[in-house]
Amino acid sequence: MSKILLKGGTVVSGSSVKKADVLIEDEKIKAVGTDLSGEKGSKTCPCPYREGSETASDQLVGSEYVKCNRGGDFNGTGKCHVTKEDLSGAEVIDVTGKLIFPGFIDTHTHFQMQASDCVTADDFDSGTRAALAGGTTCILDFTTQNKGKTLIAALDHWHEMADGHCSCDYSFHMSITDWNPDIKSEIPVMTREGVTSYKVYMAYPNLRITDHEIFEILQAVAQEGGIVGTHCENGDLIVALTASLRARGLTSPSAHPIAHSREVESEAVNRYLTIAHEAGTPVNIVHLSTKQSMDFVRMARDKGQIVCVETCPQYFFLDDSMYDLPDFEGAKYVFSPPARKKEDQDALWDAIRHGEIDTIGTDHCSFNFATEKILGIDDFASIPNGIPGTEHRPVLMYTYGVLKGRMTNQAFCRLLSENAAKQFGMYPQKGAIQEGSDADIVVWDPNCAGVITAEKQIQAVDYTPYEGMEIKGAPSLVFLHGQLAAKDGQVVRKGLGRYVSRKAADLSFRKN
Ligand code: URP
Ligand code: ZN
Ligand code: ZN
Repeated sequence: MSKILLKGGTVVSGSSVKKADVLIEDEKIKAVGTDLSGEKGSKTCPCPYREGSETASDQLVGSEYVKCNRGGDFNGTGKCHVTKEDLSGAEVIDVTGKLIFPGFIDTHTHFQMQASDCVTADDFDSGTRAALAGGTTCILDFTTQNKGKTLIAALDHWHEMADGHCSCDYSFHMSITDWNPDIKSEIPVMTREGVTSYKVYMAYPNLRITDHEIFEILQAVAQEGGIVGTHCENGDLIVALTASLRARGLTSPSAHPIAHSREVESEAVNRYLTIAHEAGTPVNIVHLSTKQSMDFVRMARDKGQIVCVETCPQYFFLDDSMYDLPDFEGAKYVFSPPARKKEDQDALWDAIRHGEIDTIGTDHCSFNFATEKILGIDDFASIPNGIPGTEHRPVLMYTYGVLKGRMTNQAFCRLLSENAAKQFGMYPQKGAIQEGSDADIVVWDPNCAGVITAEKQIQAVDYTPYEGMEIKGAPSLVFLHGQLAAKDGQVVRKGLGRYVSRKAADLSFRKN
């Protein structure tokens, strides 16, 4: 049996920040409490019993901290749950001055993804190593149904690519691209396979489906307690705008944000929310990027709709001036929806401040600049869409979110871990530092400073869109199922990742 005691740190949850020690036993968190030492009468602990009491009838109301004379914390049964025996043989790691977060969850990755003639630079091996090194202990990747094929075939294919190759835990959303009664009958099969979240596309000619189909999918998935996330862009308009830009000879990356304008997104967001209203189901919007999209979300919430919102670091840190960079450099920032304007960034920070955004994923979809992005040198619409980010999401959001006063440590925990675990049916196995949860833990050094560079990154791609950005705060230790898996930004144990079979969505955190 392996035991690790993280001593002297500050444990962060979505609702609290408390000084507490964390005892890990094998793969799970065994106890969380103040000064876990196993010494009789020597500490203050969050004991629900009065000093000297032996019985549950003496339980105190509220969360008052009292001196415990029983040698440790109680678990509500009157039995001391941390004893000297529990602690004996534990490796003690001093984490004084560090924050302890539940392992971060990246809700949005595309590893080993095929796009026309290209494949992403990161596969499940490099992608999950990069994620882990940055403090992410679980990723949710997007499987994609091939038209005319089944969902189970897609899931099998993604398992083939991922199983045995991952260094952090992983699970799959299912992207439905072809809807009919046979596919509908597969939704309960997906539930049994641990897939409870879906994506549909309103854009991309080869992926998008109709509003009628989205309506039916929302209802079929809601019946299973799942949730559908949608790529909201008006696909017809993108095709029309692209043709018009090409006809005018506008073929450089500068044309990308024109073809994928803010209106192209917000119209689709509004339409999706209307479909959800009529279907009577909750929804998720993935990679939301504009002020106006956020306004439509507010209007839907005001009507009582349950709407979850994901955004990504690129929408806070990159803007549409990037597309005008010389030497085709703008191609590095071609992703959809595209980088927006300063006012959109401000609106997203505002939404964060008001608790209106639920999750921050990355949409990590990395294509090498030299060999892949370059394929669109004569035609912006042929530039493969996507950017890397899974390694740097936590440091970026901590530095420019928490340290700039735009979010609390608790909000950071909710946005990068706890809400994702709830929304995607993994809580409290994931997303929590509490007794019985998986010992997926990030020991965060709030003082570690550095600069993001492609040269140092683990992501197997030849650039980072965040090159040169200064960061403060970094994961010093990352535990996965109780094993130290990454240290100071480097993976020390690879290949420990497991498939996470997920349950129904818990959307109780999303209050309108
Ligand atoms: O540009 C992007 N976002 N590529 C990945 C596919 C998607 O739409 O999420
Ligand atoms: Zn998308
Ligand atoms: Zn995506």
